[in-house]
Amino acid sequence: MSAYRLEELKQYSDTLRTRHGEALNVRFVEPRDTDELQHYFRSLSTRSRYNRFFGAISELPKGLLNDFLAVGERERFSVVATKMVDGFETIVAEARYALHAETSTLEFGLSVDDRWQGHGIATALMTNLECRAAALGAEHMFGDTLRSNATMISLARKSGFAFVNHPDDWKLVRFDKEIHIAPKEIPCASWRLAALSRQADSPSASA
Ligand SMILES: CC(C)(COP(=O)(O)OP(=O)(O)OC[C@H]1O[C@@H](n2cnc3c(N)ncnc32)[C@H](O)[C@@H]1OP(=O)(O)O)[C@@H](O)C(=O)NCCC(=O)NCCS
Repeated sequence: MSAYRLEELKQYSDTLRTRHGEALNVRFVEPRDTDELQHYFRSLSTRSRYNRFFGAISELPKGLLNDFLAVGERERFSVVATKMVDGFETIVAEARYALHAETSTLEFGLSVDDRWQGHGIATALMTNLECRAAALGAEHMFGDTLRSNATMISLARKSGFAFVNHPDDWKLVRFDKEIHIAPKEIPCASWRLAALSRQADSPSASA
């Protein structure tokens, strides 16, 4: 996967399960999500928004909204986890991730709708992000969180991340996990196929 088109990316949607077995669809953000995405962020509690963006914002500023919508540009991706509520597809969580090819790392951040927190959604989403990281060839995945964010710190610890100081902000802590999943062992079918086709395309694989 070196160039990305929305039509190609659309095939990469996954089904996640909450702790109680409810199904969620995880898919890339599309232009049609603009209003619903803003609604999602406006509806987050002030504290959740602060923890997600490390600052007080009431909605996504225009530049950040455009970044969310520019899926695949500069190896940055946004996904939403959605659920059907009263016949409408509703966003219950979101994540952004970026591949830093020069360091073979995948950086990510995420949030879950306050009403849906504590249902295991972030745990499932992070496992899914690990599949995506492995498929993109990342060797580590990491995120940053405020030192005061006990929930994220506890979640990262349970998900097998180690903690290091943030390189230039003492208020943040970085959580990092080594990825050692071979392409054929990636536990998400579509990402396993993506990784295998990427491997087959790479010059080193045919050398
Ligand atoms: C952090 C966040 C993503 C967790 O999402 P979630 O879906 O509620 O997490 P899960 O249900 O998968 O919980 C996993 C673990 O997190 C921890 N956790 C969850 N809620 C917690 C709480 N209220 N207090 C302390 N720890 C908590 C627990 O260790 C939990 O495991 P357990 O249920 O087995 O005890 C969510 O709280 C959130 O969106 N916060 C605002 C945005 C944010 O902080 N993003 C992180 C920085 S990028």
